[in-house]
Formats: sequence, structure tokens, C-alpha cells
Amino acid sequence: KRPSVIVTRRIPKAGLSLLRETCDVWVNPEDRPLDRAELLQHAATADGVIGLLTDRIDSGFFDAAPLLRGYANYAVGFDNIDVAEATRRGVPVSNTPDVLTTATAELAWALVFAVARQIVVSDAVMRSGNWPGWGPLQFIGQQISGKTLGIFGPGRIGTAMALMARGFAMPVVTCGGRRPNETLERECGAKRLPFEEFLATADIISIHAPLTPETRHAFNAAALARLKPTAILVNTGRGPIIDEAALVVALREKRLAGAGLDVYEFEPKMAVGLAALPNVVVTPHIGSATSEARDGMAELAARNLLAMLAGDTPPTCLNPEVLPDRGSRQS
Ligand code: GLV
Ligand code: GLV
Repeated sequence: KRPSVIVTRRIPKAGLSLLRETCDVWVNPEDRPLDRAELLQHAATADGVIGLLTDRIDSGFFDAAPLLRGYANYAVGFDNIDVAEATRRGVPVSNTPDVLTTATAELAWALVFAVARQIVVSDAVMRSGNWPGWGPLQFIGQQISGKTLGIFGPGRIGTAMALMARGFAMPVVTCGGRRPNETLERECGAKRLPFEEFLATADIISIHAPLTPETRHAFNAAALARLKPTAILVNTGRGPIIDEAALVVALREKRLAGAGLDVYEFEPKMAVGLAALPNVVVTPHIGSATSEARDGMAELAARNLLAMLAGDTPPTCLNPEVLPDRGSRQS
């Protein structure tokens, strides 16, 4: 019998057509996430599920999915998955690294420049028809070249972003990560700094860490108070890494120059007051939103799930210890 696969929201065809070759596929037809009851209801008959970063994959989900042989996240971040619980239950789970690295690093740069050069407020003035003509003191921003770039969480995406900075001749400092980033040390002379020194050193800080208990609210009021008053903070990682209410206060008090945000603590909402600040640029979680990245994610998620259903090794499994070949060798 063909495996039954649930896709919790429509994804690019590249992935769906792969799945349909060998599986019976149900795709959420609505242009919205499934609510919790719907997710659990559809999970009840699923051999495999492809889900979103907004789907909570926890013990309640696994309880509702007795047939489940694999879960593939359509995202690189996997803070929505209780991986330990999946492992306890012997269910392989996967994410979509690499295919969205360039897209997300490029968006981080887009936010850096948009904030540094006041692109969004300038655009609004032009559209309003109220631009009085060129003036020497209008819309003064700051130069990026030569400034110190701080990468918080120098993994795949943070590394890609920093490598792009070579064109702007920026010294690079990093913070976090389990081991030193040899690529950035070699290519950019990157220095790894303790958090407080990192905050005080970087002119541009870009957040690329995963959301974990250690990184949640790492950028709280005390951390924000250590930034240079000229600093620009960009977050294309996960919203809760910043205490967003504290960021609003810090921006209002000009403790930093500005912020570019693609992710929020309580998506899809923004902290009260954030939208009223002129020195922020806000985008709706579009880090991976290029056709290249989204097609790549769809294909990778599908390949992961198909491998799980076939008992093969998925390309990017988060808990390979549950895979059948390893399991049998261990016992
Ligand atoms: C998007 O936020 C992702 O984790 O892929
Ligand atoms: C995610 O892919 C990261 O390692 O930054």
C-alpha cells in the first residue's frame, strides 16, 4: 500500500511531485496553517508528515499519530520540534539546512543596508510626493564598509553572511557556536569573543543562532545596553532571541542606531511600539523566500520524508540514532 503523507500547507511543486510518485499525498488546501485540532486529526492516519515552523511537533502530536514513520520540517530551524521526544519514540525527524543559507544571508544584508541608509523612510517620502529636492542634510545614514560585523551564532547562515562581507572589507567578530569557526578565522580573520565584549565591539550585529534555552532573550535589556549607540542589530534567526519589548525601549532611547527584523517574539504580532519607530525595518519572516530556496526546501523535505518511509538514511536527519540500520547495529 502506498504510504499516506500529510503536507500541512501548500509547498512548491518540486517537493509535491516527488512525493506523489510513490505516496498518497494530502495537502492542506487552505491558505493558512492547520490549527492544532486539524493537525492532530490529519496526523491520525499519516505515515509521514511535512510540516511548518508554526506546527508544534511534540508528545501530543506523536500521541495523535500512531502510524508515523517520519516527520520532515519545511524549515532549517527546528525549535518547533521536540527532537528528544521524537527520538524516544523512534521517529526520525529532519530539517532543511543549506538550501536556504544564501537566501537568508542575503536578506540579512538587505536589512543591514535598509536600516543604515534609511531606505524605507526615504521610499515613503518619495511616494508621498513631499520630497522638496536634494539637500545636504537629508537622510544621513552610515557607511557599512570597514565597520565591524558581529555574527551571533556563526553556523551555516552566519558564516555565509560574513563571507559576503569580504566585499565590504569588514573586520568580523563572532559569538557562540560550539566550536571555533575555522572558515571565518581563515577567510575573514574572525575573532571569537565572549558575549559582553562582542556586544561592545560590533558595529553591525546579525543574529543567526538557533532558538534554544540558552539563546532565548540573549538580547535582553542588559545586553542591549552594552551596544554602541551607533550599532545596527539585525535578526533573521528566531524572534525570541531578542526581548522585543526591551528592544523597543532601547531603540526609543537611542541606545542603538536601528534594527532590521525579519522574525518576532510572538509571530505574527510585533511588540507594541515597534511599528511606530522610524529606525527599524521590519519584514514578515521572508529569510528563505526566494524561488531558489523554497524549491530547494520542498525537494529536500520530500527527499527526507521519502527516505524515512523507505527505511533509508535521510539527507538531513536530526536524530539519526533512530534510523533502522544504526539501531540494529547498536543492539
Ligand atoms: C525559517 O525560519 C526556517 O527556519 O527555515
Ligand atoms: C542554519 O542553517 C545555520 O547553521 O545557520
